[in-house]
Amino acid sequence: MDKLPIDDETCVIVLTGAGVSAESGIQTFRDSGGLWEGHDVEAVATPEGFKKDPDLVWRFYSERRKQAGQALPNLAHLKLAELGDRLGPRFLLVTQNVDALHVRAGSKRVIEMHGNLYRTRCSRKKCKRDVTVDANVYETTPLCEKCGENLRPHIVWFGENLDPTHIERIERFMQYPRPTLFLAIGTSGSVYPAAGLVRLAKQHGITSYLINKDVAENEADFDVVLRGSACDVLSEVL
Ligand code: OAD
Ligand code: ZN
Repeated sequence: MDKLPIDDETCVIVLTGAGVSAESGIQTFRDSGGLWEGHDVEAVATPEGFKKDPDLVWRFYSERRKQAGQALPNLAHLKLAELGDRLGPRFLLVTQNVDALHVRAGSKRVIEMHGNLYRTRCSRKKCKRDVTVDANVYETTPLCEKCGENLRPHIVWFGENLDPTHIERIERFMQYPRPTLFLAIGTSGSVYPAAGLVRLAKQHGITSYLINKDVAENEADFDVVLRGSACDVLSEVL
């Protein structure tokens, strides 16, 4: 595989998904053996599921906290952190992963568009309680110190909107400093709006690459597809 065309002027925007953390031992969502198997998505990853059985949801995310906490960043995370250091403000890393492994690998310009496992917030939207850093595991639902409502994981669940400031930041970066390369890695291309970023990139005249083990749902939208594991391919092309 050829090296990616990155020089002193290239701006790069990267989108990562569960495939990037797979080699750290964290299960992906849709591969066989994936996380949702044995877990009803509706029950653990929707606001309705949380309303119905918050303790179940907390036990589920507590498991995720434990699992991700024991995992280590892999070569793919490290290579992306290195690229970020090299490009500085000409680099933006957007991740769908909530495991915090990019930040632990040293990446600085990271947008965690689906939230972060190690953050907790009040489930009452108008409550003034801040989002807090929280690595605790819970058997039962913790309550808000300010209003007494249930606390919840700071994760974007199905049916919920992304933080609009994240979308704005991505759109702004696509206009200035005018990235020339969009790189999606380890993502099935089935969850929007992340899966639509490749089209947005295309509208801005940005060349798109996909690095993925299997065929992604939005694969036809990419200019170049590099098949393989994130660690192998990134070691070769960066
Ligand atoms: P998926 O589990 O849907 O897809 C993972 C993709 O990574 C698959 O296409 C695999 O082929 C690929 N893959 C697996 N191992 C790989 C490896 N070692 N190297 C490269 N590719 C590999 O995960 P996402 O696309 O990230 O949302 O899922 C998107 C969102 O769906 C998640 O962020 C999550 C879920 O609902 C939330 O939690 C809010
Ligand atoms: Zn509250």
